Parts: sequence; C-alpha cells; structure tokens
Amino acid sequence: MRRLLRILACLPWYRVIARPILFRLDPETAQRAAEAALHVRPLWRLHRIATAPSAPPPQPALAGVRAPNPVGLAAGFDKRCVYLNTLPDLGFGYLVAGTITREPRPGNPRPRLARRPAEESLVNAMGFPSDGVEACARRLERYERRVPVIASVAALGDEDTLFCVERLDPLVDGFELNVSSPNSAGVREYQDPEALRRLLTLLQRRAKPLFVKTPPYQDEATRRKAHALLRACVDAGAQGVTVANAPSVLEPRVTTGTGGLSGRALLENTLRMTEDARREVGGGLAVNACGGVTTAADARRAIDAGADSVQLYTALVYRGPGVVNRIVAGLARNARA
Ligand SMILES: Cc1cc2nc3c(=O)[nH]c(=O)nc-3n(C[C@H](O)[C@H](O)[C@H](O)COP(=O)(O)O)c2cc1C
Repeated sequence: MRRLLRILACLPWYRVIARPILFRLDPETAQRAAEAALHVRPLWRLHRIATAPSAPPPQPALAGVRAPNPVGLAAGFDKRCVYLNTLPDLGFGYLVAGTITREPRPGNPRPRLARRPAEESLVNAMGFPSDGVEACARRLERYERRVPVIASVAALGDEDTLFCVERLDPLVDGFELNVSSPNSAGVREYQDPEALRRLLTLLQRRAKPLFVKTPPYQDEATRRKAHALLRACVDAGAQGVTVANAPSVLEPRVTTGTGGLSGRALLENTLRMTEDARREVGGGLAVNACGGVTTAADARRAIDAGADSVQLYTALVYRGPGVVNRIVAGLARNARA
C-alpha cells in the first residue's frame, strides 16, 4: 500500500491537473479552494505516508523550539489558525500562524493578490486581514501540537502587541514579531531601532522564544537601517530573526497599487540578507531565511549562508503541497552525503 502511494505521489498531479485549474481562478479564490482541500484530513494523511522522507532530516537549532526539520511554513498562509492540524501532514517542521492582530480586521479591499507566473512569484496587498487574537487563541487551544507553532503577531502599538503575546503565550512555542509588513504602515513605527528595543524589552516578560521578522533591503541605505534593527534584536534579547519580509513593488492589478513581492524572484536577495544577518547577529541568535525558497538546493544554499531554518509560502502555490517533503528529503540526503 505504502509503495503504491509512493509511486502515485511521484506523478505530477499538481502541475498537470490541480495548478491549471486553480490558475483559471482569481488568485484569492484559488487560495480559498486550496484551503478547502486542507479540510479533507484523510487525504493529507495519505499524502504524508506517500511523501515522507525515508531518512530523518537534520533538526535545526531554533532557540529551543524543537522542530523535527528545518522547513517552516511562512506567516500569512494560515492567518486565522484554521488549518494548523492538517499542515504538519505536508511535512513542515514548524508552522508560523498569523499574522494575528488584537482585534478582527477585514484587510484591504479585493483584488489584493496577483500572480507573476514567469518568475513563480506573487504580489500581495492583504493588509492584515485577521479574525483577531481571541478567535485565533480559541483555535490554537485545539491544535494537536504535532510540530511547533510560532505565532506571528503584528507590532501595532506596544499595548496591543503585549496583549496578543500574553493571550497566546500558553498556546504557542514562540513568537515572530511582524515589524515589516509592506502593506501596513502601523508596524513601521518599530523599524526605528529605539522603538523596537523598547517593545522587545516589554515583551521579555513572556516566557517563549521571540523572533523578529525584519524588513528587506536592496540598497546600502536600507541595508544600514536593517542592520541597526538586527543589533536592536541582539541588545534587547530576542532569540532569533526571520530574514526577511516581502519587498514592496508596484502592481496595478491590486487595489492599493503596491504590494509585497514573494516567490522565486526573491531568492538571491534572501541569501545575501541571510549571510549579512548571520554576520551581524553572530552565533547566539537563530536565523530563519524566508523569501523564494522553492527547492532543496535553495534551502541548502540558505543554510550554507547561515540560516538555521527556511520558511516558505509561494512555493506551495507554484509547486504544490509535495514541495515541502521534496525539500526535506533533499536536505536529509544532503546531510548523509
Ligand atoms: C498572500 C500572502 C500573505 C502574506 N501575509 C503575511 C503576513 O500576514 N505576515 C507576514 O509576516 N508575512 C506575510 N507574507 C509574507 C510571507 O510570510 C513571506 O515573507 C513571503 O511570502 C516570502 O516567502 P516566499 O517567497 O516563500 O513566499 C504573506 C505572503 C503572501 C504571499
């Protein structure tokens, strides 16, 4: 039975059947359709049996977060904490849930997601749609905890951020503080190193590891600013950084006219930023590389550049759910070689 499932899993179901159908729909409707499939849990149990790597992959050192492998789900996929019990069956070593805000928010008006298939990329202008921390906390209470879950919390004011962290602390394995969304001006207050230091110091009351998702950069001036934030993370005792959020680009197909670029187009810059971050924070903090990781070779390059783990989102859209275990298996093979 397992052998048959493994043979079936080698067929290009997603590329030949599912993706062409999904890509006929507008991107957000396609996302909802893919999410609806995640409710069919027996399907994903079979998926796990069919695609699980035969050798154990390397376990990352993630500031005490005990992930079984170094491939994490990036923030934004499960903003409402609805699919957490199914997502480990895709092979993820850990999940970043959210971004979660204190109160429910509708986000920006649609359309707010566009595809760029030539570069396997997306542009999103979601604007933090959230069910609010209370609804997410109630769903997290039912999380089966097969892999660690990290809550991505929006840094929208000291008081609201602290409120979210205190409410979620007993339910999650760590936090990723989002100070870098390209679509929400409010979080940019914390791109000032002093403001970030103050907020991190305030959050030290919580017991769980704290990661900061940093803004991306492409030129020397923004690079210097991002490095000042990395130093603030070290000074204020954060346990890790996620490098980096999506850079803002012009996109006429979304209502806001700009959005965050994600996917393959980001990879080379992600690798550069990962190397920089490792140099800047030293060996004491965990570094998660996020942006454009699509293959095991990409993940290997990120780890070689200094990352402890990688996070991905857009690869799921272009390569399908099998991409996670393909990367994990590739890393496991690599570790044995
Ligand atoms: C539709 C969409 C929504 C996203 N929402 C969030 C979010 O709420 N919080 C966040 O920190 N990042 C969010 N991101 C950014 C991802 O976490 C990640 O940084 C980015 O997609 C780059 O990784 P990728 O190339 O693997 O997709 C979102 C990305 C997409 C495509």
